[in-house]
Amino acid sequence: MCGITAYVGNDNALPFLLQGLVKLEYRGYDSAGVTIIDSANKINTYKAKGRIKNLEELLEGNHVEGKIGIGHTRWATHGVPSNLNAHPHTNNTYTISIVHNGIIENYQELKKDLIEKGYHFNSQTDSEVVVHLLDYYYHGDMHEALKKVISIIEGSYALCVVHNDNPNVIYITKKDSPIVLGRTQTASLAGSDIPAILDYAKDVYFMEDGEIAVLTKDDITFYDADDKLIQKELIHIPYDNEAAQKGGYDSFMLKEIHEQPYVIKETLRGRVENGDRVVLPELDAIHDKLPSYNKAYFVACGTAYHSSIFGASVLEKLAGIPTITQVASEFRYNDPIVDENTLAFFVSQSGETADTMAALRLAKQKGATTIAIVNVLGSSISREADYTIYTLAGPEIAVASTKAYTTQIVVMELVAMYIAQALNRNSYDYRKLIEGLSSLPAYLEEILKDEEIFKGYAKLLEHERDCYYIGRGLDYASVLEGALKVKEVSYIHADAYVAGELKHGPIALIEEGSIVIAVATQPNIASKTISNIQETIARGARVVLFTIEGLDVQGVENTYILPNVDQLLQGILVAVPLQLIAYYTAVFKNCDVDKPRNLAKSVTVE
Ligand code: AGP
Ligand code: GLU
Repeated sequence: MCGITAYVGNDNALPFLLQGLVKLEYRGYDSAGVTIIDSANKINTYKAKGRIKNLEELLEGNHVEGKIGIGHTRWATHGVPSNLNAHPHTNNTYTISIVHNGIIENYQELKKDLIEKGYHFNSQTDSEVVVHLLDYYYHGDMHEALKKVISIIEGSYALCVVHNDNPNVIYITKKDSPIVLGRTQTASLAGSDIPAILDYAKDVYFMEDGEIAVLTKDDITFYDADDKLIQKELIHIPYDNEAAQKGGYDSFMLKEIHEQPYVIKETLRGRVENGDRVVLPELDAIHDKLPSYNKAYFVACGTAYHSSIFGASVLEKLAGIPTITQVASEFRYNDPIVDENTLAFFVSQSGETADTMAALRLAKQKGATTIAIVNVLGSSISREADYTIYTLAGPEIAVASTKAYTTQIVVMELVAMYIAQALNRNSYDYRKLIEGLSSLPAYLEEILKDEEIFKGYAKLLEHERDCYYIGRGLDYASVLEGALKVKEVSYIHADAYVAGELKHGPIALIEEGSIVIAVATQPNIASKTISNIQETIARGARVVLFTIEGLDVQGVENTYILPNVDQLLQGILVAVPLQLIAYYTAVFKNCDVDKPRNLAKSVTVE
């Protein structure tokens, strides 16, 4: 994980490096650092533990100037968060400096070898081996040294390298970690993600694994993995950084929760036709092949795993294809039964999650047709899957995923309908389902007006240590996600159970005053869940219930009636109150909602 920035140009490098790091802070915030080469060709490195603001404070006291530099915000994998372990790392003679995103898997043997050769290590990081290896293999040509080093190191990396022998050049390479490059009139820039450079460049280059980029103030030269000079295409980024700012909200999470009516509309745009047909050109290439698939997989992590549980049920129901949902970190080591008759979906907001990426590669290798459902344009997973369908949620900055979840489900509904229609399965009323999808934004606007009610429910949780979420069928995915949100942002222990399982064990936990949050939106089983709720009330629980009109909810202390949409869509509506409950609980507890402890936005390590 982590964020990298790099600048070489006519101006002072620091402002670009720092603004980029701030925009990338969601990728990790254990420490931050920069290297600037000054006009006397001296490498100056500044590092500070914690947030970027600590680095800024450190820099304020120093007169730091130079037209070339690299920066880093860290999410530690090897070595505790500390000043010494912060990047950039320099060689022993302070002539080379590097920043690294990823993990060098064979660093231990390399380190041992380098120590034997006389190198002194300053940090506990895996990354530091890279700078000493570069030193060892550098004989006047950094491009050559870098080629040599990437042939030796194993693992994942985005690397930026500067040497004071050649103080006008930055070398960049990558494998399994993202990096984006751009140009202004007078500078070349790089960042781990688009927001880092978007205020400076609207057109960007994405690098592929094994490529090397050589940046000078005048241009960027790219070499492929065989060291052949290549021309790369500039990709225009259609949104601006405004979209990535907080707007009028107190936090990114709240802003992103409120964006859901809009981004769902965006995600649906142009994807339905004549009221009952789904248009997904992304899948047209496999349209005629769809009858040959006898099994589907949904593979993802965290929130994307929860939307996958939901999506898998919808696909099974509409398309009749047996579908398995699996956490990516399990799938990759489970020797899954996957072949050319398998359709495998990989769901990810960031498109960079290492476990999901590894699972995707495995499925591809076993012959499956792979489809990514991803939010970040041009991300690694989107580029590696056979086909990619984007959720159009826009940049999601808060670590806790909200709008990515609901837009993932919207895409899954469309995919399920597309496949069902291709298979001529016409038992479901698609027109009604599509009408329902189109009505979601307006219903969500209505639900968002009830924020005060959800704040009230959050008050119930504020001083709790534990709470319980229950639901059945599709509602189980909703409660898993609701409980994850509370855990992530408010640090309250929240467990989600299939309501019918309560009596098989968890009900032993219920005592006077326990908080139970229940979801019962599926007409065929809602009354069963309500009976389970009564069982908890009988043991002293205080219940918040999200349900639909027409059920007997007598005795339930807090009941919120959701608008009545198709049962396959209720999960999108109920997601929003559950997100707001988690959000306000965190606010009441003074937690840092956008950057919860121990978490990072994109988990690019195993
Ligand atoms: C969501 O709130 C989490 N922070 C986390 O579980 C996340 O969903 C997971 O890491 C997967 O990320 P991805 O969607 O970017 O692949
Ligand atoms: N593995 C490196 C470290 O622990 C880099 C981690 C990162 O990508 O931030 O320092």
